[in-house]
Amino acid sequence: MTTSINIIQPDDWHVHFREDEMLKVVTKYSARVNRRCIAMPNTSTPITSSNQAINYKKLIESNSHSLNFEALIPCYLTDNLNIDDFIYALQNKIFIGGKLYPTNATTNSQYGVNDIKKIYNIFEIMEKENSVLLIHGELNRDDVDIFDREKYFIDEELYQIRNTFKNLRIVLEHVSSDYGVDFVNSNQNIAGTITPHHMLLTKNDVFKNEEINPHHYCMPVVKNEKDLLSLRKAACFDNKNFFLGTDSAPHHTSDKVQYKSLKPGIFSSPCSIELYATIFEEENALENLERFSSINGPKFYGLEINEEYLHLSRKNFDLPDYTEEGNVRVKNFFSDKKINWNVS
Ligand code: NCD
Ligand code: ZN
Repeated sequence: MTTSINIIQPDDWHVHFREDEMLKVVTKYSARVNRRCIAMPNTSTPITSSNQAINYKKLIESNSHSLNFEALIPCYLTDNLNIDDFIYALQNKIFIGGKLYPTNATTNSQYGVNDIKKIYNIFEIMEKENSVLLIHGELNRDDVDIFDREKYFIDEELYQIRNTFKNLRIVLEHVSSDYGVDFVNSNQNIAGTITPHHMLLTKNDVFKNEEINPHHYCMPVVKNEKDLLSLRKAACFDNKNFFLGTDSAPHHTSDKVQYKSLKPGIFSSPCSIELYATIFEEENALENLERFSSINGPKFYGLEINEEYLHLSRKNFDLPDYTEEGNVRVKNFFSDKKINWNVS
């Protein structure tokens, strides 16, 4: 039985660092194992300008207490960006790319894009600048079932974006369905991030006995067993087009118990790589973990692969139910389940 794993230090290509006290907590747990993280720009005031990106990056990195840790910031795309500033920020690597949030698809997406055609000029610029488009791929419309939002987005928007901007690199974030996996695998210049929770939960874990488990409620919502298995296969074996992105998205516990305004998001930073290792082991694919966690991501983004290594050893991970620091109290994902690996 394998008792230790040595992998090139991972990067997390999808994290919500938030602001204030929460930012300190997320930074601490993210820098614990990762060398780089994409810091999603859906902060309470979205990050849409080069100045905001420079300041946000500085803020996160200075809280990491590490000389090595890097926060990479995508621009929150809107239909009224300052185009000159956007081009300047892409050319100077201030933005690693642009993140498309369809309006009202998730937390703080009210400033997002309603009519995606209206920002095709931005995609054209991004293609020309060889940048990366990160997509929250869900179509949020009244006639679309919440479990079909990813499929509808692919059919009604993504095919067309893909075919219009053939050289634009696209990341379909937090792929959540069999349909999404197939789309990534059968198109060019596209990759997908996969979260641990989409490989560990099905909709029964969220909606059961007419009650919602608020701590398993996230966007895109977790789906069926078939989807879970397809995501596990993609992460563990397809292993070229998919890479690590936890979508760790903490909300204060008080925002998770109000059913009327329940905020979507799962916090997995304190146990991220340990969860992935546990999943890869269940799939008998530990030898492929490094490619998913540390190689495919930088290759797709055109960045260097990390030089340091991370060591994990077999040991039950004792994770408290909550992360509690200062005025922050957040539920830790998977604290009541078995995690077999520890970072040493
Ligand atoms: C994220 C958040 O809370 O910022 N929530 C989530 O459920 N994943 C946003 C997102 O990535 O959808
Ligand atoms: Zn996210």
